[in-house]
Amino acid sequence: MNSFYVKPRIYMGKEGLDDILRGVERVMIVTDGFMHSSGKDSYLTIPLEQRHIDYQIFSEVKPDPDIATIAKGMTMMLECKPQVLLALGGGSSIDAAKAMNYLATKEGLAEKCVFVAIPTTSGTGSEASKFSVVSDPTQSAKYPLVSDELLPDAAILDAELVKSVPPSVTADTGIDVLTHAVEAFVSTEQNDFSNACAEKAIKLVRNNLLKVYQHPDDLQARQKMHNASCLAGIAFSNSGLGLNHGMAHTLGAHFHIPHGRANGILLPYVMSFNCGCHDKLTPAAKRYARIARILRLDGPSIRQSAFTVVRTSKQYVKQLHIPDSIEAAGIAREDFDLALDEMAEAAFHDACTKTNPRACSVEEIKQLFQRAYTGKLL
Ligand SMILES: NC(=O)c1ccc[n+]([C@@H]2O[C@H](COP(=O)([O-])OP(=O)(O)OC[C@H]3O[C@@H](n4cnc5c(N)ncnc54)[C@H](O)[C@@H]3O)[C@@H](O)[C@H]2O)c1
Ligand SMILES: [Zn+2]
Repeated sequence: MNSFYVKPRIYMGKEGLDDILRGVERVMIVTDGFMHSSGKDSYLTIPLEQRHIDYQIFSEVKPDPDIATIAKGMTMMLECKPQVLLALGGGSSIDAAKAMNYLATKEGLAEKCVFVAIPTTSGTGSEASKFSVVSDPTQSAKYPLVSDELLPDAAILDAELVKSVPPSVTADTGIDVLTHAVEAFVSTEQNDFSNACAEKAIKLVRNNLLKVYQHPDDLQARQKMHNASCLAGIAFSNSGLGLNHGMAHTLGAHFHIPHGRANGILLPYVMSFNCGCHDKLTPAAKRYARIARILRLDGPSIRQSAFTVVRTSKQYVKQLHIPDSIEAAGIAREDFDLALDEMAEAAFHDACTKTNPRACSVEEIKQLFQRAYTGKLL
């Protein structure tokens, strides 16, 4: 369906909390163990204490949250009956809180509360997307929940929170932003509105990703990447993603590769396939050529422009010290071979793959995984 839906209200900086907490008596915070044990959740607990607001903290979220964690958080939510639910952390904490809030209210177990997402990584755009990715470790699988009702009511984008992100997470999450923006821009469901957000996100990544990787204290660049992440989230929440995410979900779930890193490893191979760089140019190649123009790298032909985008993604991977193949990510050949058929099937059926600009078969996905394993584009 061709439509564009925008939520949440976006606050730039901590002052947004004044607005959100006015008149509130009970709050629940959802975060991960690191944010809690390192005291980073004092970003919220100090203002809550200053305002004499009761709060409970659920800090058991781990990377790639599973249904057991979500169920545990829901139990706390039902006891706490928060007026405001604050998700503080990376995509894992925000996705867990989204699923808790959605399932608790959908089942009629909890009253609707104000739901606020406060990202501490610049990557998933989860604060502005209608997706929540839930892992099922027993099946080595990840399932995206998709509903407008998952969208937070408000988001706070504060670069201060991202300053402490270590370089490898800055790299992984940064390439995730680029993947979101690119997949949104070439998606079969893209429209002028999602394109505007995706295009701006690509420009912000071009100007700021390597800067924040090399200069983690550059607050201005951090804020720009934070904005890029959110804009890309708005874009793909409306346009959907593509095969890259379909493959990254199953690759990450099988081998515990961080989400952004899995996307970065796969990006050149999926883009090259989507453009038809090495066989017959596809209609999608034009969209990639447009991306080359956004990156100010366009060449004399669609083929050359599209191929430049593929090459540029490889360069990003190199400059960000992301492994440039599945093998380089430490996955043994025999383990990869054992998982390959299952991964290709899972990627084919993943909800994200539906909006990929080039139709693909399970066999083609298998070939793409093979290429990404060895790191050879052809
Ligand atoms: N909902 C969506 O639209 C969407 C989109 C893409 C990915 N995802 C999901 O999001 C999850 C990945 O999220 P992520 O990439 O943000 O990583 P994450 O939330 O798993 O965090 C990664 C690591 O960074 C640490 N960290 C977070 N903020 C920090 C900070 N400020 N300083 C220091 N360390 C910090 C965390 O403690 C954790 O160890 C995956 O489960 C993925 O499937 C969701
Ligand atoms: Zn992603």
